[in-house]
Amino acid sequence: MKVLGIDIGGSAFKAAPVDTKTGKLLAERFRVPISSPCAKGEGLAAARQIVRHFRWKGRVGIGFPGIVQEGRIGAVGNLGEEWEGLNGRAIFTRATGCRVGLANDADAAGLAEMRFGAGKARSGTVLMLTFGTGIGSALFHRGALYPNAELGHIPWGGEPIERFASAAVKTRLDLDWKEWTDRVNVYLRVVERLLSPELIIIGGGVSQDHGQWFKFLHTQAKVVPAKLHNDAGIVGAALAGE
Ligand code: BGC
Repeated sequence: MKVLGIDIGGSAFKAAPVDTKTGKLLAERFRVPISSPCAKGEGLAAARQIVRHFRWKGRVGIGFPGIVQEGRIGAVGNLGEEWEGLNGRAIFTRATGCRVGLANDADAAGLAEMRFGAGKARSGTVLMLTFGTGIGSALFHRGALYPNAELGHIPWGGEPIERFASAAVKTRLDLDWKEWTDRVNVYLRVVERLLSPELIIIGGGVSQDHGQWFKFLHTQAKVVPAKLHNDAGIVGAALAGE
């Protein structure tokens, strides 16, 4: 099936049509920058602009950076509190005129990696982590997703731990790879102590730079970069629209 996947990140909506059978993008990705926080009107306009850009008429899948249950938006990390409590599926359906499916962005990226990427045929406990503005997490056991695991929100020094170890922190504090990976090690130690994953898949923009920092990681679990790299979010979003 062909589905337009829209991955909502902290700084942009990124989208492309996806063949959900193969996990391949069917056109070059299109990016609409957004403000931080992003007002509801701005976000809905960005989705509309994407649908218009691709002249899309079919299904749309959205990876949303917050809790999503039955299309409804729960707690939101960085996009803005205005989104909390809304029926996400309904408002994006109305804004785009297309049939929309909605899932948490990291759950979506994780599903893409489990189906097409680094998690393929892995049946133990697999954890997908996405490092961006926040830290997204998707937890799988025997291939099944435990939805809305919010492991970027483990408290650390009175704040969500994503404010200590996300990729945005590296940029904001101008940390070098080693300094930032030391923070990621702290985070992964907590996560491993709680969940004992056998495999950790790392996604987000920094997964492309894994050569620079994976060498500094100390984990029990095997750590691998997302095979779909930055496309995992878009491909996963499309799966949410199937
Ligand atoms: C949100 C998660 C999201 C992650 C990555 C966190 O702040 O709470 O739901 O998956 O950011 O976008």
